[in-house]
Amino acid sequence: MDFKQHITIVEDYPKEGIRFKDITTLMQNGPVYKAAIDEMAAFARDKQVDVIVGPEARGFVVGCPMAVALEVGFVPVRKAGKLPRDVISVDYGLEYGKDQLTIHADAIQKGQRVLITDDLLATGGTIEATINLVEQLGGIVVGIVFLIELGYLDGRQRLDKYDVYSLMTFQ
Ligand code: PRP
Repeated sequence: MDFKQHITIVEDYPKEGIRFKDITTLMQNGPVYKAAIDEMAAFARDKQVDVIVGPEARGFVVGCPMAVALEVGFVPVRKAGKLPRDVISVDYGLEYGKDQLTIHADAIQKGQRVLITDDLLATGGTIEATINLVEQLGGIVVGIVFLIELGYLDGRQRLDKYDVYSLMTFQ
């Protein structure tokens, strides 16, 4: 299936010069959304995944249906102040300034096999921070799955120690 035709390119959003990849047009088409999730889940099927971890908010859109498809749990990674119980956290760089991502301290057991998911690989900063949280808790990252990869950024190089799969790549 040609998934790319279901992504809408929005010129100059959120600022001039950016060609924003809008995934909502893919998501609002039930059969296409399901086919995309099925294909991403197929990458992970032989990896004996114990749990899926994904960062808010668009990482949930990919990670939750994949967790249901693979019949494993889903663990959310959220911005600071959003999770109600004990958390561990990591600072990560944004284009302007810094932010913090958090995960519940009891969400992953040592040695669990973790699949990380997100909608988009751009610079890789968000996923690097997510990996940091998973590994702090003793999880083993067995794969990382994206709906979209931006091939013209260096995200994949930053993740070269890991098994990375993207459903589609924009150059
Ligand atoms: C977007 C996207 C990825 C991240 C990719 O999330 O959903 O998580 O940026 O960029 P990177 O590879 O350069 O880190 P955003 O922080 O905009 O949050 P949202 O999903 O809540 O919109």
